[in-house]
Amino acid sequence: MPFTDDILIIGGGIVGLAIATELKLRGASVTVLSRDFEQAATHAAAGMLAPHAEAFASGAMQDICLRSRALYGDWVAKLEDLSGESAGYWPCGILAPTFAPVDENSDSSPPHLTNAPHQSPASSSFKSLDALQRSTPTPPNGAATSPAGALWLSAEAMHQAQSGLSHAITGGWWYPEDGQVDNRALAIALRAAARAAGVVIREGVAVTGLEQQSGAFNSGSSQKIACLKTSEGDWQADHYVLATGAWTSDLLPIPVTPRKGQMLSLTMPPGYAHGLPLQRVLFGDDVYIVPRRDGRIVIGATSEAVGFIPGNTPAGLGALLQATIRLCPGLAEFPIQERWWGFRPATPDELPILGSSLCDNLSLAVGHHRNGILLAPITAQLLADQVLGHSTVPSERESPEALLSAFSWRRFVHSPVPPAAAASIPQFLPSRSSSSTPSSTPTMLHYPTLVDAVQFTESSAPALPEDAPLTIAGRTFRSRLMTGTGKYPDFDTMRQSVSASGCEIVTVAVRRVQTKAPGHEGLAEALDWSKIWMLPNTAGCKTAEEAVRVARLGREMAKLLGQENNNFVKLEVIPDAKYLLPDPIGTLQAAEQLVKEGFAVLPYINADPLLAKRLEEAGCATVMPLGSPIGSGQGIQNEANIRIIVETSKVPVVVDAGIGSPSEAAHAMELGASALLINTAIAQAKNPVAMGRAMGLATVAGRLAYLAGRIPIQNMASASSPLTGTITS
Ligand code: GLY
Repeated sequence: MPFTDDILIIGGGIVGLAIATELKLRGASVTVLSRDFEQAATHAAAGMLAPHAEAFASGAMQDICLRSRALYGDWVAKLEDLSGESAGYWPCGILAPTFAPVDENSDSSPPHLTNAPHQSPASSSFKSLDALQRSTPTPPNGAATSPAGALWLSAEAMHQAQSGLSHAITGGWWYPEDGQVDNRALAIALRAAARAAGVVIREGVAVTGLEQQSGAFNSGSSQKIACLKTSEGDWQADHYVLATGAWTSDLLPIPVTPRKGQMLSLTMPPGYAHGLPLQRVLFGDDVYIVPRRDGRIVIGATSEAVGFIPGNTPAGLGALLQATIRLCPGLAEFPIQERWWGFRPATPDELPILGSSLCDNLSLAVGHHRNGILLAPITAQLLADQVLGHSTVPSERESPEALLSAFSWRRFVHSPVPPAAAASIPQFLPSRSSSSTPSSTPTMLHYPTLVDAVQFTESSAPALPEDAPLTIAGRTFRSRLMTGTGKYPDFDTMRQSVSASGCEIVTVAVRRVQTKAPGHEGLAEALDWSKIWMLPNTAGCKTAEEAVRVARLGREMAKLLGQENNNFVKLEVIPDAKYLLPDPIGTLQAAEQLVKEGFAVLPYINADPLLAKRLEEAGCATVMPLGSPIGSGQGIQNEANIRIIVETSKVPVVVDAGIGSPSEAAHAMELGASALLINTAIAQAKNPVAMGRAMGLATVAGRLAYLAGRIPIQNMASASSPLTGTITS
C-alpha cells in the first residue's frame, strides 16, 4: 500500500479542513483527501453565523451551535495567525424584519440605502440598538416571549438600525450576537492555515470506497476500515474521518442527501458614494441578505430536494430577487455580480452526524445541512477529542461524549416494526392458526416450511425424508424461498406477502434505497430485520466497478438496519436493459474482488455451468442461475443447464428469475435447486399475499418431492393396479 498516514480525512471542505487542522495542532500526522474543493458547500454558503436567528427546535443543536459561535472569534484569529490571510469574520448582528400581513406593497418610493450610523462591529452598536429596543420592548403582534437571543425592535428602530429597509416593515427581531464570516475568505485562510500547520492536502483525489478488513464479519470481532480505494490507488491510515458533505452516501449508507441552494450576489452600482449599503445581515422569511465589508451583497438561498441537479433557474433566482426587493427596495438597482448554487448535506432530522461509526477506526463528521460554516470550530474540537480519546471541550454540564451522543448515526438505526398481524389469505389455504382462530380476529401467519409440511401428515404415516437446513456462507435458514421488495402495490402488501411466503431472506436493491427511487422511500424500514436476513443486491449496476461500490454500500446498509455481521451481497452486473441478462465477465471480476473483501457473494448468472464453476472456485457462497429473464414469468427455460449446475455445484444453487407460478417454483425445486428467489410473480399477482403463501408452499412441496425421489419417465404405460395375483377366468 503506497500511502500511509496517522489520520486520513476524507473531504476537503470546511469541516474536513477544520478537523485536520485541529488534529495536526494537537500533534497528529494528518492528510486530507479532497476531491474538488470548488464543489464543497463551503464555497457556496453565505457564511451566516446564526444560531439565534435559525431558531433550532433541537436543544442539542442549539447548544452546539451556540458553543461554536462562541469559539468563532478565537478560532478565526488562530487561522489568520497561521495563514496570514483575513477570514472576514464580522459579528455584525442579524436583523429579521417582519411585515404586516396585508397592504405591504403600498410603499412606492424606494428608501435610499445610505450609510447608517452604526458601522462599527456589533459590540459598539449593541448599546444604541439596546436603547432603541427599550423604547418599544414588546412586539406589537402580541408575541408573548422573545425568541432566544432576540430583542424586538419597532419599525422606527429597525430603520435606524439599518437604512434602506422597506417602509412596509412593522418591526423585527434583532439578534445582536449572531453574525457572519466571509466563507470564501475563510476557506482560503483555513487551507493556508492547515498547510502552515503541516497538514498534507491532496487535491483531486476521489475516494471511491471504504474497504473493510475481510474476515471480521463472522468472527464477532470489532470492524475496521482496511484501506481507502481512491482515484490514486489505495490509502491506509490508523484512523479515518469522513467529512464528505452532500456526497457522503456514495461511501456509506447513512441518510445524507443533497439539498440544493441557489444564490447570487450584487455589487455596488458604479459611483455609489454612500459607504456600505448594508451593515447587518437581513434574515427574511424567504431570503437572507449578507453584506460583505467589500461592498458585495450575498443573497440566498433556495432549498430544493432535487438531488444533484446543477444550475440556477429563473424560478429560483426570481424568487430570491423578489424577496430581496420586497425587503430592501433600493437593492433593485444594484448590478448582479455572480450567481451560483451548492448542495447542503441534509439529514432527515436536519442535525449533523458526528462521532464514532460501526468501524473502530472511522469517525463521522457529516450532515451539517445549513450550518457547516457555523459548526466548523466545535466539530473540529469534538472530533479531535473523539479521535484522540481525550477531551478539551470545557463543559459545566455535559461531557463531550454526551454532546456527541445527540448526533450519533445510531439515531437512524431502524427499530423493528411488529410483524404483519393480518393478511388477506383466502380461507381455503391450509393454515393451522387460521383454522383455530375466530374469523373476526386477525390471523397470525406462520411460515410454511418443510417442518410444517411434515406436521400436516398423519402421525401414522411413514417417516418423511430428513432435510438439512439451507446453509449459505455458514448461516442456516429454515426456508428455501427468498423474495424481493420491488413492484409491490404498497409496503403493507409487501410485508404481508413476505410473511405469508415464510421466506427468511429478502433481497433489497441498494441503489434504489439509497436514491430513494419512487416506491423505495422508507422501504428499508418497512420490514422487521430482526427476523429477516437482508440480501442487499446490486441491481442497476452495469459494470463490475459499480457493483463493487454498491455492494460496499449494501453491507453498510445492512449494518445500519441492525445486521452488523451481514456480509451477504446478491451480485448483479447487468448492462443489458432489454433482457436484463447479466454480464458474465463483469460478474466474475466483481465476484473475485468482493470475495477478497470478505463478502459472501451470491452472483446472479445466466445458467452457464462453466461460469457457475468459475464463480464457485472464486469463492462465491452460492450461484444464482436464472430460469428465464427477470420478471418475464416464462418459467424454467434453461432446464438442461440448471440440471448440470445442480449436479456439478458444491455451493447452493438458487434459481433466480423467471418463475411465474407455484408449479414452476415446485418444478425448479424438483430439479434439485437448493433455493429459489421469486419477486415479480408474487408482487404483481392479483393477490400478492396469497401468491406469497402459494410460492412458499410450492417451494416446500418441490423440495419434499426432490427428497422423496420422483419416478422415472418411461415411454410406455405401467398400470396402476398390479396384474399379478388377480383372478383370471
Ligand atoms: N446557512 C443558510 C443556508 O444554508 O441557506
